[in-house]
Amino acid sequence: MFRWEADGDGIVTLTMDDPTASANTMSAKWGEDFAETLKRLEAEKDSITGVVLTSAKKTFFAGGNLDDLVKYTKADAQKVFDQSQEIKGLLRRLETLGKPVVSAINGAALGGGLEIALATHHRIALDAKGSKIGLPEVTLGLLPGGGGVVRVVRLLGLADGLMNVLLQGQQRAPKAALEAGLVHEVVDTPDELISRAKQWVKDNPGAVQPWDEKGYKIPGGTPSTPKFAANLPAFPANLRKQLKNAPMPAPYLIMDAAVEGSQVDIDNAAKIESRYFAELACGQVSTNMTRAFFFDLQAINKGASRPDGYEKHSARKVVVLGAGMMGAGIAYSCAMAGLEVVLKDVALANAEKGKDYSKKILDKAVSRGKSTQEKADEVLARITPTEKPEDAAGADLVIEAVFESPDLKKKVFNEILPHLAPDAVLGSNTSTLPITDLATGVDRPEDFVGLHFFSPVDKMPLLEIIKGEKTSDATLAKAIDIALQIKKTPIVVSDSRGFFTSRVIGTFINEAVAMLGEGAAPSSIEQAGSQAGYPAPPLQLMDELTLTLPQHIREETRKGVEAAGGTWVGHPSDAIVDRMVELGRKGRSSGAGFYEYDESGKRTRLWPGLSEEFGAAQGDLPFEDMQERMLFAEALETVKCFDEGVLHTIADANIGSIMGIGYPAWTGGVAQYIDGYPGGLPGFVERARILAKAYGDRFQPPASLVEKAEKGQSLRGE
Ligand code: NAI
Repeated sequence: MFRWEADGDGIVTLTMDDPTASANTMSAKWGEDFAETLKRLEAEKDSITGVVLTSAKKTFFAGGNLDDLVKYTKADAQKVFDQSQEIKGLLRRLETLGKPVVSAINGAALGGGLEIALATHHRIALDAKGSKIGLPEVTLGLLPGGGGVVRVVRLLGLADGLMNVLLQGQQRAPKAALEAGLVHEVVDTPDELISRAKQWVKDNPGAVQPWDEKGYKIPGGTPSTPKFAANLPAFPANLRKQLKNAPMPAPYLIMDAAVEGSQVDIDNAAKIESRYFAELACGQVSTNMTRAFFFDLQAINKGASRPDGYEKHSARKVVVLGAGMMGAGIAYSCAMAGLEVVLKDVALANAEKGKDYSKKILDKAVSRGKSTQEKADEVLARITPTEKPEDAAGADLVIEAVFESPDLKKKVFNEILPHLAPDAVLGSNTSTLPITDLATGVDRPEDFVGLHFFSPVDKMPLLEIIKGEKTSDATLAKAIDIALQIKKTPIVVSDSRGFFTSRVIGTFINEAVAMLGEGAAPSSIEQAGSQAGYPAPPLQLMDELTLTLPQHIREETRKGVEAAGGTWVGHPSDAIVDRMVELGRKGRSSGAGFYEYDESGKRTRLWPGLSEEFGAAQGDLPFEDMQERMLFAEALETVKCFDEGVLHTIADANIGSIMGIGYPAWTGGVAQYIDGYPGGLPGFVERARILAKAYGDRFQPPASLVEKAEKGQSLRGE
């Protein structure tokens, strides 16, 4: 695992190269070989000038072994603590070898990779394309347990280390890592990387870590420094505010490890870090988040749902139909990815206004130093606003985003069709209309597909791809390729009213609205949503989406159910939504909804009339029930989506729910919530039955779920 090459100057280059894998990870074998290598370094110390640590892989080092991590339970805590301590012991021996050690970071150094580099005296990073440096553990519900907390605090100070690195988990490009103080130098070529590293060794024969120097003090002070102590109470308070009390243990324990560790010596700080690491690694939240944000996301980005046998496709010229809120954002995302964009609206002025949206975002990026004027001009030059269909000549992709009317959508497609490339992908951004029906309006239904973006398009990473009955596999494969080309995360679902995302988010809002009628205080409902981990509380979200939307979807769904000979079952929230609309309180855009708004459109307070109108705030509901009703309603609707063949993979459900509709991240997504529920799937089924008894049959667990529970399976099928 460690190739040893000594040069004529006595500098040993250690090249990490796991022969059994495409990347180096902290496997047991790596640990053994690292220990052996250290022994040799210590034995041959007198003939060594210094050490350069690098890797033969594309990445420098990929970090810990997450396959093992998701399986840990509370019973493994001591084992995890011991492993963490063992690795840290080795890293400590490396940094106290008595010889200069330099990391030549040739590619990504994330998590454990950066922790290894932090235990060397000097870090030089190659400015390789796509290379990332950082400690993303917090985004997986973990903390850096290989000395990352201890060393970042000692390198950058408590405040900077916590706020800029440990609690954010950013993955920085080499130059940004340099700016953040995580590396010392950035070079442009692999040769320079090694030659600079060797030169540094020669120039710094007596190198030691700053924290091993006499009189070292943590930059910016520690809780025992009076100035710092005065600011300390604000830390956890700010964190609670930021997390809105959501059940995310990692940020709190990272803070505890950092603060407690800053008051003791490095070895004791390491122990504190390992203890908290073991607690997190053996808990449910890190399992949930690792499954979603590492494994599920990786599967999706590799195109797990992409049909086999189709060549990789990339779009060249896209026509965006409709330059409103969505069309403007879609045009921006496509232009940023290098596509030629024709932005068409009924009038040129509308199209130009749509293009201005991109200009505004780009101007801001330039003024904040996140982009250059030259790059911004290039992106803008790719967008051609127009009202003429013939400007679409030769386009190989259409993304339609005109008003939500089936007739209008059919009309705009047919207007453009004669000008397109013969096999152009025909995508619609409809949020509610079934794709199969829309496809009947064109003579190439096999090329027709739903491309459901989320607002604001430039910020929201998800793209829900909807397969209509006639959508061909070739079109689906192209749609997935296009999504990745424009840097979106694609999930694939089959046609259904509201598809997966809109259907599921509707149940969350309905549940919250129903609680008003059961006497819950509106502010408690909002708090229950926030504390469950939802990014926006439900009544506020409903106001943003506008109350006529669920009314319309409900009406269309009712018609569909009745046309198919079924019996329509309403929801207790229906009457409340109808009455609100009757009162003219349709949501933020109408200036009044569950909240009141001032003239500038700013939300001021919850509408006091909710109590008189609906009996809100006149009773009490158990807080835990309120939270779980929201989480369960969405989870149960998800199971129905699987049963009906709307959803096909657990990864799509988890990632779609977190990235598209704000399902709480700590759950690992709407499917993982079921598997990760206390007691697993049987525990979830039992709790659903209790909720059904108390609040209505909509909480009855579907037969498919009960069957899996009885067979001892998980929803994931393990
Ligand atoms: P919008 O009202 O902001 O924009 C619609 C645009 O279409 C307007 O600029 C209008 O001038 C243009 N238009 C109308 N007739 C046209 C024609 N014949 N040719 C070319 N352009 C025409 O609407 P928004 O919010 O952008 O929604 C567009 C579509 O995206 C709808 O189908 C909507 O359901 C869907 N959607 C909306 C989301 C949202 O959050 N607003 C989210 C996801 C999808």
